[in-house]
Amino acid sequence: MSRRIRKAVFPVAGLGTRFLPATKTVPKEMLPIIDRPLIQYAVDEAIEAGCDTLIFVTNRYKHAVADYFDKAYELEEKLEKAGKLAQLEVVRNPLPPNVRAVFVTQTEALGLGHAVLCAKPVVGDEPFAVILPDDLIWNRGPGALTQMADAAEASGASMIAVQDVPHDKTDSYGIVATEDFADRQGRIRAMVEKPKPADAPSTLAVVGRYVLNPRIFALLESTTPGAGGEIQLTDAISALLAEEAVHAYRFRGTRFDCGTHIGLIEATIRYALDHEKLSEAAAAMMQSALDELGVRELE
Ligand code: G1P
Repeated sequence: MSRRIRKAVFPVAGLGTRFLPATKTVPKEMLPIIDRPLIQYAVDEAIEAGCDTLIFVTNRYKHAVADYFDKAYELEEKLEKAGKLAQLEVVRNPLPPNVRAVFVTQTEALGLGHAVLCAKPVVGDEPFAVILPDDLIWNRGPGALTQMADAAEASGASMIAVQDVPHDKTDSYGIVATEDFADRQGRIRAMVEKPKPADAPSTLAVVGRYVLNPRIFALLESTTPGAGGEIQLTDAISALLAEEAVHAYRFRGTRFDCGTHIGLIEATIRYALDHEKLSEAAAAMMQSALDELGVRELE
């Protein structure tokens, strides 16, 4: 039995160029699925898993993320005066009282590994989570990070979320080679960042949820730039494999790659169709849009 994670790192300093022009002023983590920004889904998942310290690795263009978790006195006053109590409740407590947000600056965009290393002084010497808010994971049971934190606590191994991807997409992901899986977990034997399909050791791809032992920080400190000229988290994890057990974890849930246009659309459709108040209207609207455009009929 190992220590339960309490801290989650959210690397949010990326430029989000794929979503320009929207991301000229709105950080990609603030893009909404229905009425909640991506960062809110990620934070909720961390809190559900038991985290009480949320570490945002940010830069000077991302003030909106910090503002979002801050108090909005003027807005609260206006909502209160207008008697809009439901909305007031939604904005009043962005985080539960036992949870704190810490902001760490990544002054240079040197890669995901570098972003995680920036959180070292706040994480210290304990296991922690990394959540990439672009990867939105939808499910009905416990969240993906809760599943992984439970598994990490039981075994003491670091956990990396994985899922199968098409063979021609391996160069968009970290790819792992594992031993046989038992109960959703398989020990990782090798890990490589964005290999060409011909060089990929498998089609099992890393998804943006990690539970890592703190030893990773020392390894990140000596990690040199890798794929894309960036300091890659994958390369440091690859070094960790030589020292201790790191498990690939097949989470329950559906992952949407909200770092791409189609992934964001897919997530919006899924959340709309699953929404208490919107599902019927959304389904009817989708059907009529398909009919009108003659795309194809829904089942
Ligand atoms: C990062 C990681 C990659 C992982 C991916 C999941 O890549 O480096 O290993 O598979 O997230 O979303 P990025 O998408 O930031 O290029």
